[in-house]
Amino acid sequence: MLKIAVLVSGNGTNLQAIIDSIESGYLNCSIEMVISDREGIFGIERAKIKGIKTYVVDRKIYKNTLSSKILDLTLGKVDLIVLAGFLSILDKNFIECFRNKIINIHPSLIPAFCGPKMYGIKVHEKAVEYGVKYSGCTVHFVDEGTDTGAIIAQRVVPVYPEDTADILQQRVLLEEHKLLPEVIKLIAEKRIKVDGRKVIIL
Ligand code: GRF
Repeated sequence: MLKIAVLVSGNGTNLQAIIDSIESGYLNCSIEMVISDREGIFGIERAKIKGIKTYVVDRKIYKNTLSSKILDLTLGKVDLIVLAGFLSILDKNFIECFRNKIINIHPSLIPAFCGPKMYGIKVHEKAVEYGVKYSGCTVHFVDEGTDTGAIIAQRVVPVYPEDTADILQQRVLLEEHKLLPEVIKLIAEKRIKVDGRKVIIL
């Protein structure tokens, strides 16, 4: 069974979607641990409620050793790292150790509205401001850049002229909660092949 670690920095609704998908029998994998880079977030509570092992690797304490601490916790113990609203940057060594085994979910259609400092509500503010007709979410492999890794799957939502960033965020989140478990399922079933930047679903 695919063993995963889920890394969170906030509310953890995507983590919840994974938990729910496992409980419903849709996903056949096990969450070995949930790791957060800050104290006091609800994502950690969601894991605790379900009896999942949790670790807080506080970015303020670990600073530039955060990645190596997370590597210590995960290497040899999990098959896949899922970044579900995780805001710290993982270093080159971590990415090398888990090459094509780290996925991230981003709340836009990459390469639009992504990159350094584009996270949270800001992504949706920029999309609304720009006047795009469609936005969505992207699950991609994590490489050394910010939101630059090969795209695994995307889901599209409409954007309406009267939308606020909050409304768009909620619409996108609903799709995130379906897309992320879908991608994990594909990985668990070994149905994903990576060919350079192209990800082929078998
Ligand atoms: C999501 O919008 C995700 O795409 C982004 O961070 C947000 C996390 O939300 N990377 P949650 O903590 O899963 O509710």
